Amino acid sequence: MSGLARGKVLFRYADLIEQHTDELAYLETLDNGKPFLLSKYGDVDVVVKGLRNVAGWADKISGQTYKMDGPYQGMSLYEPYGVTGAIIPWNFPMAMFMMKVGPALAAGNTMVVKPAEQTPLTALYLAALAKEAGLPDGALNVVPGFGPTAGAAIASHMDINKLGFTGSTEVGKIVMEAAAKSNLKPVTLELGGKSPVIICEDADLDVAVDIVNLALFFNMGQCCTAGSRIFVQDTIYDAFVAKAVEKAKKRVVGDPFKPEVEDGPQVDETQFKRILEYIESGKAEGAKLLTGGCAVGNKGYYIEPTIFGDVQDDMKIAREEIFGPVMSVLKFKTLDEAIKRANNTAYGLAAAIVSNDIDVANRFTRSVRAGTVWINCYHVYDHSLPFGGYKTSGFGREQGLHSIHSHMQLKAIITPLKDSPWL
Ligand code: NAI
Ligand code: MG
Repeated sequence: MSGLARGKVLFRYADLIEQHTDELAYLETLDNGKPFLLSKYGDVDVVVKGLRNVAGWADKISGQTYKMDGPYQGMSLYEPYGVTGAIIPWNFPMAMFMMKVGPALAAGNTMVVKPAEQTPLTALYLAALAKEAGLPDGALNVVPGFGPTAGAAIASHMDINKLGFTGSTEVGKIVMEAAAKSNLKPVTLELGGKSPVIICEDADLDVAVDIVNLALFFNMGQCCTAGSRIFVQDTIYDAFVAKAVEKAKKRVVGDPFKPEVEDGPQVDETQFKRILEYIESGKAEGAKLLTGGCAVGNKGYYIEPTIFGDVQDDMKIAREEIFGPVMSVLKFKTLDEAIKRANNTAYGLAAAIVSNDIDVANRFTRSVRAGTVWINCYHVYDHSLPFGGYKTSGFGREQGLHSIHSHMQLKAIITPLKDSPWL
């Protein structure tokens, strides 16, 4: 298919998804537990916009011509990989699905996708809509299954030429090894995080509290980019903590289909238990439990929005990704110290600073080793912005043109120049 024809199908696909917003949002909430209104106005919107963005790129992919040193002409040509694969997680099932499928198809590849075993429903529904949109048979293949079987089959497959993975750092290493040991397929890895948020003493306290509340509690804390290490300058620490606790206590936890609910359950029992274990470890290591800390009710996997104060850098809750509604607040004195401690992590996915001093903010954004840095905001994403990690948070960039290029190989073609008047 030509780029224009691919774009046409993908635009139709986006329209169909938009028309089925309610069904998709319903399935996503049923599967994942996130609030229905967030599924509807957040996740489906991200899917539709991201798909339209890459559909628009489908007929605008171009290389360059090069003036070479000798009597030759060079050109670069973007080519699709052919068959590509993707393994996706359960925290944003449809958004992650489209972040991989959209660019793969727009760039002219086919794709085999494995949704997370916890959340296969929207991927299957999206596959049905793709067929309705006119995608040729075989272009998109959804294979639900477990990681060590279906996932491993994709990672080690000899006929899959490129792999996109989002999930834990632990499994990221496993799939990369499988890719290397099979056909050395290139991989794009989007993995975990332990993202720092620096609250400086000149920050507006209410703004800062709103930012960290969103940074950590959004999606029940199940975000790779969750702002989970909150560094607060010592002079405002007490005032900040009091307000942060007050705000966390107001969050409404419960049935995700009720419109007033902000936090549904954690995705499954494994995650639920894991998070409660982290809370116990925080207590055992001497962090100060300021609010929350318990399950809500005795049915389902609901956890209270939890905040620990006086957290030290070497505590487990400050080092490991919890992936739940557990905030760690740490105290700092100087910016130098905050930068050093912010970088003292194996991860490097996101970071944020809250300050009204542009020089402080600029210094931080250039000092922190993270793929996304927010100044005075959090969880702002866009299909046009590169998204991906530093360090063990992974590599490769997704979204928009970046993701188109990561789904293509770049070929150099050289031809002699005969009797050219110039070189
Ligand atoms: P996971 O990394 O095991 O699962 C992610 C995907 O990888 C799923 O589709 C799963 O089936 C697949 N997978 C698992 N083992 C595999 C294997 N051997 N070969 C190929 N594919 C495999 O994540 P899990 O166990 O669901 O969650 C554990 C922790 O991982 C979470 O608590 C969180 O810290 C982190 N995580 C990070 C995510 C992110 O967005 N970066 C998303 C999900 C989890
Ligand atoms: Mg796992």
